[in-house]
Amino acid sequence: MACRSGPIAFGHPGTGGGPAGRSESFVWRFILHEMPLSHSRSHLLQQKAEAVFPGGVNSPVRAFRSVGGEPPFVARAEGAYLYDEDGNRYLDYFGSWGPMILGHAFPSAVEAIREAAGRSSSYGASTAAEQNLATLVQRCFPSVEKMRFVSSGTEACMSAIRVARGFTGRNFIIKFEGCYHGHSDALLVKAGSGIATLGIPGSAGVPAETVMHTLALPYNDLEAVKAAFEARPGEIACIILEPVVGNAGTIAPAPGYLEGLREITRKDGALLIIDEVMTGFRVTLGGAQRLYGIDPDLTTLGKIVGGGLPCGAFGGRAEIMNCLAPLGPVYQAGTLSGNPLAMAAGIATLEHLIRNEEAIYAQIDRTTQQIADGVAAIARERGVPLTTNRVGSMFTWFFTANPVYDYDTAAASDTVAFGRFHRAMLDRGVWLPASQFEAAFVSTAHTQQDVDFTLEAARSALA
Ligand SMILES: Cc1ncc(COP(=O)(O)O)c(C=O)c1O
Repeated sequence: MACRSGPIAFGHPGTGGGPAGRSESFVWRFILHEMPLSHSRSHLLQQKAEAVFPGGVNSPVRAFRSVGGEPPFVARAEGAYLYDEDGNRYLDYFGSWGPMILGHAFPSAVEAIREAAGRSSSYGASTAAEQNLATLVQRCFPSVEKMRFVSSGTEACMSAIRVARGFTGRNFIIKFEGCYHGHSDALLVKAGSGIATLGIPGSAGVPAETVMHTLALPYNDLEAVKAAFEARPGEIACIILEPVVGNAGTIAPAPGYLEGLREITRKDGALLIIDEVMTGFRVTLGGAQRLYGIDPDLTTLGKIVGGGLPCGAFGGRAEIMNCLAPLGPVYQAGTLSGNPLAMAAGIATLEHLIRNEEAIYAQIDRTTQQIADGVAAIARERGVPLTTNRVGSMFTWFFTANPVYDYDTAAASDTVAFGRFHRAMLDRGVWLPASQFEAAFVSTAHTQQDVDFTLEAARSALA
C-alpha cells in the first residue's frame, strides 16, 4: 500500500524522533505502511501542466515516463526534504539534479539572493560579484586561468567546444556514449540523461551535417580513442567527457583512463575538456580533476557553481580563453551571463564549502557510503541483483548483477525493476532520481536518521 511521509507530527527523520513510549521501528512501520499518500492536487496540476507544457514538464526526465506514475508537484523544499502540493514530505536524493549540495534553502545562500535581488535582479553590465565568484572558482580549480560565466551547463559545454575548435582550427570532436553535455546540437549524439532515459539515439531536429564532426565512442575504452586519433591525426579539436559519468547513472573512470586521454590529446595537439558540471565541487571541492590528478585544457561548470540558480561557467588556459570576443574571433555572449542573483548564490555556496571543506566532504562521503552500501546489502539479503556505483556523494543502484563501466553495461540493467523500486521508494517518502540513467546525490543536510529511514524504506520496497 502507498504511504504518507509527511507532514507528520512524529517519527519522520528530522522531526526529532518517535512518539514517547514507541520504538522508532514501530513509527517507521506506521509511516511506511499505514498512511496512504494523497496526490490529488499534484494530479490536478499534472493535468493542467499537460495542456501547456509538452509532457507536462519543462525538462523531460521530470515527467517520470521511464519509472511510471505521476510526478508530485513541489511546493517548497528545506534541507534534505521536498514538500509537495498535497503536503507530503520526501527525502530528496536528486537535489535539483546536483546543485543542492548544502540542502535546500541554505540560509546564507537565501540571504545572499535576497540581498542581491534588492539591488536589482540584472544589470547586463560588469559587477564585482563576478570577480568574487571567479576568484573562488579559481581557488577550487587552479587549471581555470580565465573563465566566462554563462546561464547553464548546456551553454558552458557548447561554448567550450566552440572555443576549442576556434583555438585549434579543427572540426572533429570526441564525446562518449552515455555522457551528457547539455542539449546543444553537436553534443546530442548517443547522449545520456533524458536521451538515454527515453531510449532515443539522438534528437530529431538535429541535421546530420551538424553532427558529422561528432565522434561518439564507448566510455572507459582507451583503445577506441587511440584508433580515432590514428584515423584522423591533426583533425580532432577536442575530447569532452564527464570525468565521472553521472548521466548514464554513476560510472567511475577506469584506472589510467583519464591519464590516457590526457596523454593522447597532448600528443596530437587536441584539447581535453573535462565537463565538471555535475562533478565540480561535488566529488571533491576541486572536482574530479583534483580527485584523479588530471590537468585539463578547459573545464565546464554548472549546478553547484550557481548555488541552485541558473549559472554555468567554462574556462581554462588563458591562451585558449583569449580567443573569445572581444579579444579574439570566437563569439560567445549572454544577456544574463554573470547574473547578480546567481553570483550571490554561488559565492555563498562556495564560501561555505571552502570554509568547511574537510568536514563537509568527509560527512557526505560517509553518509552516501552508508546509504549506497546499506541498500546494496539489503538487496543481497533479498536476492535482488544490484550493482552499486559510487564516487563521493554521487551514486547509482543499477538493477543488474554485472559490473557497470560504460553505457552498454548500464543499459543492460533492468529498467522496469528500477521503475518499480522508484515508485515503491516514492510511496515510502524517498524521492530518487526518476531514471536508471541519472546519479543520485547526497547533501550535507542528510542526517543519520535519514540514512536509517532510507534503509528501512528500501527494506520494505525491495520486499
Ligand atoms: C555533465 C553535465 N554537463 C552538462 C549538463 C547540462 O547542464 P544544464 O542542464 O544546466 O544545461 C548537465 C546537466 O545535467 C550535466 O550533467
